[in-house]
Amino acid sequence: MTTLTGTPLAPLLDQLFAEADEAAAETDSAVADLSEEEQARMMRSKTGYLDLYGRLKNVPLAVSRETGTLLYMLARGINARNIVEFGTSFGISTLYLAAALRDNGGGRLITTEFESSKVARARENLTAGGLIDLVEIREGDALQTLKSGLPKTIDLLLLDGAKGLYPDVLALLEGQLRPGAFVVADDADASPDYLARVRSTEQGYLSTPFASDVEVSMHLI
Ligand SMILES: C[S@@+](CC[C@H](N)C(=O)[O-])C[C@H]1O[C@@H](n2cnc3c(N)ncnc32)[C@H](O)[C@@H]1O
Repeated sequence: MTTLTGTPLAPLLDQLFAEADEAAAETDSAVADLSEEEQARMMRSKTGYLDLYGRLKNVPLAVSRETGTLLYMLARGINARNIVEFGTSFGISTLYLAAALRDNGGGRLITTEFESSKVARARENLTAGGLIDLVEIREGDALQTLKSGLPKTIDLLLLDGAKGLYPDVLALLEGQLRPGAFVVADDADASPDYLARVRSTEQGYLSTPFASDVEVSMHLI
């Protein structure tokens, strides 16, 4: 039995994914006045994300179950003790990562989110999952909240906030990534600059797409 498959976490994740399915219609209506091109532009923009995520503040926008399980397995496989996450939302991916820390024997997960109502939801969910003691939620824009106070080494980084900021957030944290650290980027296709960086053989990463919307990269140096 693992923390992920036991109680209270497994039934909590079932409930949160059921709620996420129900919220799908709300996601559509929050952006109904925007064309697909406009949504894509906001998603990639370094400024338009504020409006986009403001509209989506009531919906979880969570990673898939498969990506959650991948995150848990990667964190367990490298015995991660220090994890950083960009984009907390309701804390669903955070629950998977914190469960891995628990099963690794402990550690620290720093996650960041600028929508205060989402920070409150994430805190509630992490408390219900019995994992809040492992998690520090930093409220604010990641480019500020992740500037300092980081662990000396980072074992795993999840990028799941504004896609246009993936290269900037990576640049902030890169110095702390240990050799063999994983960087997982959700919906990375919306960040071509980021993909160009981690897929270039000269940048110190080995990188591969996974399940069409996730880029899994290993920091080699
Ligand atoms: C796709 S959702 C994250 C989903 C979450 N990782 C999960 O699987 O449960 C992206 C979240 O990042 C937040 N976000 C976007 N850009 C941000 C930024 N620059 N700083 C902090 N949070 C940001 C949004 O408000 C949104 O809640």
